[in-house]
Amino acid sequence: MMTPPPVPSAPETTMSRRNFLSLGLGALGLVGLLQTGVMTVQFLGPRRVDGEFGGVVQAGLVESFPPGSVTEFPDGRFFLVRLADGGFLAVYRRCTHLGCAVSWQAAENRFACPCHGSYFDQEGDVENPPAPRALDTFAITITDGTVIVDTAEPRQRDAFDATQVVYPAGA
Ligand code: FES
Repeated sequence: MMTPPPVPSAPETTMSRRNFLSLGLGALGLVGLLQTGVMTVQFLGPRRVDGEFGGVVQAGLVESFPPGSVTEFPDGRFFLVRLADGGFLAVYRRCTHLGCAVSWQAAENRFACPCHGSYFDQEGDVENPPAPRALDTFAITITDGTVIVDTAEPRQRDAFDATQVVYPAGA
């Protein structure tokens, strides 16, 4: 009696399918991880929503800010300072010590930090440490009589100087 020929290598076919399925599932998992990574970066990355911090804020018409005034823009996280000479500064509310939000104290004509007692004058210069330097500012443009503040990137400065002030045309 003859011995039957060996059975074709069925296990290899099964293994190939398993490998194929594993590879496919692995690829799907990788795509899922990449999607999650992209969404995380988008979520944590800088947002630019007009009217909010990180975006462009249309503050208002020049004449709606009297000289010598300080107006808070909570959504933009800045104060729009109009100096007595008519110039504008957009002062970031983040304290330069450890980042607490400063508030404007009109009666004392100063910004005050609630965390460790720093004070800043109307231009944002340090009046009382531990804050190491002036409050940051944001870029201002004045277009068709409207003050526009871009809060995308705070501008660091050691102290106030006149070059930081933006004046309306004809002022
Ligand atoms: S965070 Fe403002 S003084 Fe410390």
